[in-house]
Amino acid sequence: MSDQVTGRTLPLVEVTVDGETVRVPEGATLLDACRAKGIDTPTLCYLETLTPVNACRVCVVELEGSRTLVPSCSRAAQPGAVVRTDTPRVRHSRKLVLELLASSVDLSLASQDVRRWMDGYEVNAEKFGPLAAAVSDRDSRNPGHHHAPDGTTAETVTQPVKIHDEMYIRDYSKCILCYKCVEACGEDAQNTFAIAVAGRGFDARISTEFDRRLDDSACVYCGNCIGVCPTGALMFKSEHDRRESGEWDESKQSVTRTVCPYCGVGCNLDLHVQNNEIVKVMSPMDHSVTHGHLCIKGRFGWQFVQNRKET
Ligand code: SF4
Ligand code: SF4
Ligand code: FES
Repeated sequence: MSDQVTGRTLPLVEVTVDGETVRVPEGATLLDACRAKGIDTPTLCYLETLTPVNACRVCVVELEGSRTLVPSCSRAAQPGAVVRTDTPRVRHSRKLVLELLASSVDLSLASQDVRRWMDGYEVNAEKFGPLAAAVSDRDSRNPGHHHAPDGTTAETVTQPVKIHDEMYIRDYSKCILCYKCVEACGEDAQNTFAIAVAGRGFDARISTEFDRRLDDSACVYCGNCIGVCPTGALMFKSEHDRRESGEWDESKQSVTRTVCPYCGVGCNLDLHVQNNEIVKVMSPMDHSVTHGHLCIKGRFGWQFVQNRKET
């Protein structure tokens, strides 16, 4: 493998993963080493196109010489590192992270990978008791004012869906606080910084500045946050409406890759089409120009090709 900037061939680093030697290019992470060996390592906050944020800790591994478990997604593979990925301590830690999330967040639309990991780690979403009812005041809670629950139910982040326009909705009942949307809106892609994490502890939540409505915030509606959200918390309104009415059916959808017609950048678009209507627009992560990101025009400006009224 070569350095993308200099073109220099990178020297290889040798590490041991679960007793076997793995060679990865200098600068690779322990996660890269695990994946090079074909080990299915869970990740939630990690994405190839974003800076590791180390928020979820579901990717932890044992690293010889380290007192604590280390997040494999961001720990560089040092020469001679000895890593274990399937010890009781690692399994216990990953399972607990997934159980804390599953007990408080609606993971019903999380990716197939997340569901596979939950099955694999025998996650019990009811471990902390029956789920508490929805609340509507999360956005106004002050740091340090968290009151202890009565213990009869497990507190959740369940709350009403935020619908402020026809472009996309925010359903933070499904938010695992992975920070991917914050990074995509910030330095890793859009540099708009419309959203960030407000609050502390269990009250931490993704928010616009001062919880302003989306259409009254700094958001420029690029939809890059939707593109990286792993749980369906951020969703095209066109998808949300069809899910609500029971019309969303991925088995009847086709995906067509094309080039955005709006400007000379030439972003690739993946048009998701159902019943001859575009229902959402994504962009391939492996595109060397955009890495899955778009602007408002490519993401949402496609109505002109459909829904034409008969004249
Ligand atoms: S649509 Fe773009 S600007 Fe708006 S919150 Fe999402 S990433 Fe930020
Ligand atoms: S809204 Fe989605 S991308 Fe953003 S923190 Fe929540 S789960 Fe992650
Ligand atoms: S995937 Fe490594 S800390 Fe979240």
